[in-house]
Amino acid sequence: MSEKNRFSISDTQKILNSKFIGKKILHFDKVTSTFDKAKEVELSDGLVIVAKEQTEGKGRLGRVWKSEMGGLYFSLIISANHFLPDLQFSTIVCALGVQKAIEKTCNCMIKWPNDIVSKDGKKLCGILAKTVFSGTDAGFINVGIGINTNNSPCSKDLPYASSMKDTISKEIDENRLMCDVFEQTEKCILTEKSKILKEYCEKCITINSFVRAIYAKTGEGFTGLCIGINEDGSVNIKNENSDIITVNSGEVSVRGIYGESYV
Ligand code: BTN
Repeated sequence: MSEKNRFSISDTQKILNSKFIGKKILHFDKVTSTFDKAKEVELSDGLVIVAKEQTEGKGRLGRVWKSEMGGLYFSLIISANHFLPDLQFSTIVCALGVQKAIEKTCNCMIKWPNDIVSKDGKKLCGILAKTVFSGTDAGFINVGIGINTNNSPCSKDLPYASSMKDTISKEIDENRLMCDVFEQTEKCILTEKSKILKEYCEKCITINSFVRAIYAKTGEGFTGLCIGINEDGSVNIKNENSDIITVNSGEVSVRGIYGESYV
């Protein structure tokens, strides 16, 4: 990757136009996970913790997030006050912000709850948000984001993964992308909820699709039409008996049922 496209704090902050996200950035060569690093540093609203590599990157539903050099792995630390009383809604807000940022360079959509996928259904980015309680105040949301920028994650184990670079056949300017992520996420945080939910639905390929929902704990599942999303980020799926089943992102993964695609 050329040096000018590689993330650096100074090159990003030189062009950053945000109110609070990214005003303070910590950059590490190698960490176990940015979630672990967040436990060792003083947290503040808008702090970003970035790592070149993670040795124990965490994914949704207990999965591993492969975090080799060439991708962007970072945590946005956001005060829970921005989301109260609906902390769960932070997932929807941040997924939309990140989708809008990636879309500036590479066509993409959201796969519920917060994967960003290319037009051909390959995963470009994963997001995992955790609540961090702190003493007496409302605490923080740690929004962990892994973007496949200039790496090539597609392999036998990860056939449905791709990177932005492999999708558009051009190196990605990580400083421009980071600014877009910070600015777009911040904008979404400051926008009213009904507008965010509407836009999320427009960008979400899962809604109005036939899906198979699989419970992570048991491996059991059911098939149905995803008919909508609720304000807590759960989705409603109409099964073959026309019952409407609400599933939560913390317990279920969904897959499209047509074709050989990840979505
Ligand atoms: C998913 O399973 O799709 C969510 C992946 C989230 C990966 C990011 S990389 C930065 C942050 N630190 C982690 O250990 N995981 C998240």
